[in-house]
Amino acid sequence: MKYFVCTILVLLFNANLANAEEGDAIAGKSKSKFCQGCHGEDGNSINPLCPNLSGQNQNYLEKQILDFQAGRRVDSIMTGISQGLISDQDAKDIAAYFSSRKPMVGFSGNKLGQNIFREGKLGIKLPSCASCHGENGKGRSDENTTFPIIGGQTRDYIAKQLRDLRSGDRHNDPESIMGNVARKLSDAEIEALADYVSGL
Ligand code: HEC
Ligand code: HEC
Repeated sequence: MKYFVCTILVLLFNANLANAEEGDAIAGKSKSKFCQGCHGEDGNSINPLCPNLSGQNQNYLEKQILDFQAGRRVDSIMTGISQGLISDQDAKDIAAYFSSRKPMVGFSGNKLGQNIFREGKLGIKLPSCASCHGENGKGRSDENTTFPIIGGQTRDYIAKQLRDLRSGDRHNDPESIMGNVARKLSDAEIEALADYVSGL
């Protein structure tokens, strides 16, 4: 009997550990009611400056929430929200919920944007966006904890992030990896890329 109880305890403990590591999408659904007001019930946002979270990779989402919380990424809206409301476990659960939704999709085409996205610009050593964000911007399965999904993200949000990364207003990217890319883009190229990538 003692052994039996012990086994049950070990099983329960392990189950809890698994939860803590992976996040609980069902709990995350109810914990994210407030977030859904801006990011949409399934993470498909209604406001063009609010990013889609649907199908975004889970570790990336969790990292961004924690970055907002710690002040590594600053935004007039998200900083306060993340500090006021979310424990580490909430962040995991909410990230698990939104990432379990159907991947974001968009519509549109832009030739200049397409070109930079697929080919980059050799002359100025700008790697293609696809080389990090994956074909169609849907992330790279081998490295999916680092590179966010951007294909199908909302247009104005993409443009704002590229401008913020270029100016340094956003600087939570590891090794300035994305800032170095954004600093090579002109305003016109940012608009073209936002147009194209949001349509993927
Ligand atoms: C009042 C509207 C609003 C609410 C409510 C809100 N957000 Fe946001 N969220 C935003 C905006 C706007 C941005 C874009 C910030 C920027 O431009 O950098 C954002 C960005 C994010 C990002 C970054 C996404 C990415 O692709 O990098 C995450 C993750 C996020 N929010 C999670 C949450 C969570 C979790 C909640 C609920 C606890 C929440 N948000 C509630 C408006 C909101
Ligand atoms: C060398 C790799 C690399 C290349 C090339 C690259 N990116 Fe990124 N990008 C990243 C990483 C890593 C992040 C996540 C930074 C973080 O953790 O905050 C990112 C983040 C982003 C974001 C913010 C996503 C969000 O949800 O907030 C956008 C938008 C973006 N990249 C667009 C582009 C575009 C457009 C190009 C091509 C011009 C490009 N990237 C090329 C590595 C790269």
